[in-house]
Amino acid sequence: MINEAVIYCHVQVEVTTLEEKEISQAVIGRLPRYFRYLGELKDGGVERISSQDLSELMKVTASQIRQDFNNFGGFGQQGYGYNVEYLYNEIGKILGLDRRHNFIIIGAGNLGRALGNYLNFEKRGFIFRGMFDGNPELVGMEVRGVRVRPMEEMEEFVAANRIDIAVLTIPKNGAVAVAEKLVQNGIRAIWNFAHVDLNVPEGIQVENVHLSDSLMKLSYNIRRGTGTDRKNV
Ligand code: NAI
Repeated sequence: MINEAVIYCHVQVEVTTLEEKEISQAVIGRLPRYFRYLGELKDGGVERISSQDLSELMKVTASQIRQDFNNFGGFGQQGYGYNVEYLYNEIGKILGLDRRHNFIIIGAGNLGRALGNYLNFEKRGFIFRGMFDGNPELVGMEVRGVRVRPMEEMEEFVAANRIDIAVLTIPKNGAVAVAEKLVQNGIRAIWNFAHVDLNVPEGIQVENVHLSDSLMKLSYNIRRGTGTDRKNV
């Protein structure tokens, strides 16, 4: 099943500081998983962990962990392993999770509502501020206390409420025009679920999500009989 449409432009993947410019996106892509595991260890009262133990837990090699962390100065591994809370906080800072990000969702359908109802985003500092839809019948509906507004209010809302991130959960045919309006009104990042690549100016971050990619990967692994790809779970 191939569901990609017209490719308008490449995705902007840009990092902001000189220091971070040298770090590969592959490393950045692995940080959320470290963050997640360390958060669980921290919540479980674990204070220190060796790269070997972290490696066994996460099913990645200890040398991969050390290499990844060395990109950020190694996080001061001393004596027996890493200080879990320190490492968790430092990785959180690198990911920008020590700041709050206001986000809105465009498209109050099944996917938009599911994302709006997901409480854990707030735990990570992503604050659900608004929801918009082109269908007048959905306007006024509430998703976790947030009222669905008409599209006509979107631009003013974005500019007035310091919205950083827009989540696009609309079909691909409307997504490009909506993204343009969002960018014109100061949005800095788009979490794009619409199956279309967006043509955005430099400096605007776009993260495309295709859940079916993950499913297709699963299908491949079933076909080969190799089980799940443990490296990327
Ligand atoms: P849905 O049909 O339940 O919701 C779509 C909503 O978008 C509707 O409420 C509709 O009124 C609104 N809408 C349509 N065009 C609009 C526009 N130009 N401006 C404002 N609102 C508009 O669909 P569902 O299941 O929520 O999926 C939404 C989109 O996300 C679909 O196009 C689907 O292909 C895509 N999708 C992507 C996934 C991914 O992994 N990337 C996974 C699932 C869905």
